[in-house]
Amino acid sequence: MQLLDERSVAVILSAHYKVRSNDTEFPYRQESNFYYLSGIDEDHCAIVLDGAEKKSYLFVKEITEEETLWLGSRMGISGAKALDAFDEVYDIDTFEAQMKTLLQERVRLYYDLFGDDPLLETLRLTCKELLHARGVLRSPRCFADVFELTQKMRLIKSDDEVLQIRQALAITKEAHHRAMRLCRDGMKEYEIEAEIEYIFAKNGASHNAYASIVASGNNANILHYVDNKETLQSTDLLLIDAGCEYGMYASDITRTFPVSGRFTQAQRELYEMLLHVQLEIIAMIRPGINKKIVQEASERLLCEGMVRLGILKGEVDTLLEAKTHKKYYPHGIGHWLGLDVHDPSPYVDEAGEQIVFEAGMVMTIEPGIYIKSDDKDAPQRFRGMGIRIEDNILVTAQGCENLSEEIAKTVDAIEAMCQSSL
Ligand code: GLY
Ligand code: MN
Ligand code: MN
Repeated sequence: MQLLDERSVAVILSAHYKVRSNDTEFPYRQESNFYYLSGIDEDHCAIVLDGAEKKSYLFVKEITEEETLWLGSRMGISGAKALDAFDEVYDIDTFEAQMKTLLQERVRLYYDLFGDDPLLETLRLTCKELLHARGVLRSPRCFADVFELTQKMRLIKSDDEVLQIRQALAITKEAHHRAMRLCRDGMKEYEIEAEIEYIFAKNGASHNAYASIVASGNNANILHYVDNKETLQSTDLLLIDAGCEYGMYASDITRTFPVSGRFTQAQRELYEMLLHVQLEIIAMIRPGINKKIVQEASERLLCEGMVRLGILKGEVDTLLEAKTHKKYYPHGIGHWLGLDVHDPSPYVDEAGEQIVFEAGMVMTIEPGIYIKSDDKDAPQRFRGMGIRIEDNILVTAQGCENLSEEIAKTVDAIEAMCQSSL
């Protein structure tokens, strides 16, 4: 509300059900901004914030007795009023009519500019109607993305938000450890996926935070591999990028380990080089630095490691300049994490300056190295290996806390976990 001037209105809609086919819908997942501002997990709702009157409105679905048979109960208007969180509460069926009043004499409307909810079209048409309405002097002709309001707020997590991420990570930890323990050659990647998602579901995680990547051997070199259909070979590494969502908050963890439970010499060398990079980068995270600094440091460290292992040849500075290392480390060092796995907060401000880390920000740190099986330039012994190591890091006043520290990561810890029984 404080971010809205006296000529602006913001509308934030709940997620709507998306059709999968015919009359069947995808599982429901609340829209993140709506949840962030309300904590409400129902569909057919809308929040309206009026900067002029500094008043908040909540629209909810009032369902009939007959509809409860199919849909179960909803909070309805009385439940919404009982929340005591919004100045006024209305039936969503009156949304269009109410907006006709609420948008008069306002000039700017914030909404989900790129959303596809049918109500957004209703809103635009209402603005058009007001444009020609008698007695209306001003109406919104300036449309802005509501993320402009929420993206900076969502950057700093409250203690409660961090707690949700911690809880998500506790479940994700159990899932990754189970995968390490159960993994055997001859299994299918989807069997491991099922074991992981069983732990998510069994512990009340409502969803995956994203589609699980269970990529053995050369499949790990496909960054968004989600087929998960291959048979595990004893000589393969297995890259698992999987995290649950708990209490609407995401976790995002990658571990890479040998299917056999024991690293070969070549696997160990490549793994330990990458782990060294990851630990060095995590040690850098503290208030005052920014993503660009850690990105560049990760590229330099990885480039040095690749030269050491004979994967790249030449001077590190020259290789960095020519971006030669990008062939094997083509992605970013990490991203903001929160309600969304790629939390939609900025990395640079309006002036193009880097957003400086502050206590309460949560970021993934996920360097990777990917060497395709048919890469004739790389040493034979590393071909067909794709490794990523990903943790979730909270910036603290003094430095940082690795929220996923307990998930086995050193060669010794991974081998011990792989060889321990359930
Ligand atoms: N799992 C998605 C990512 O690591 O960004
Ligand atoms: Mn990630
Ligand atoms: Mn990930």
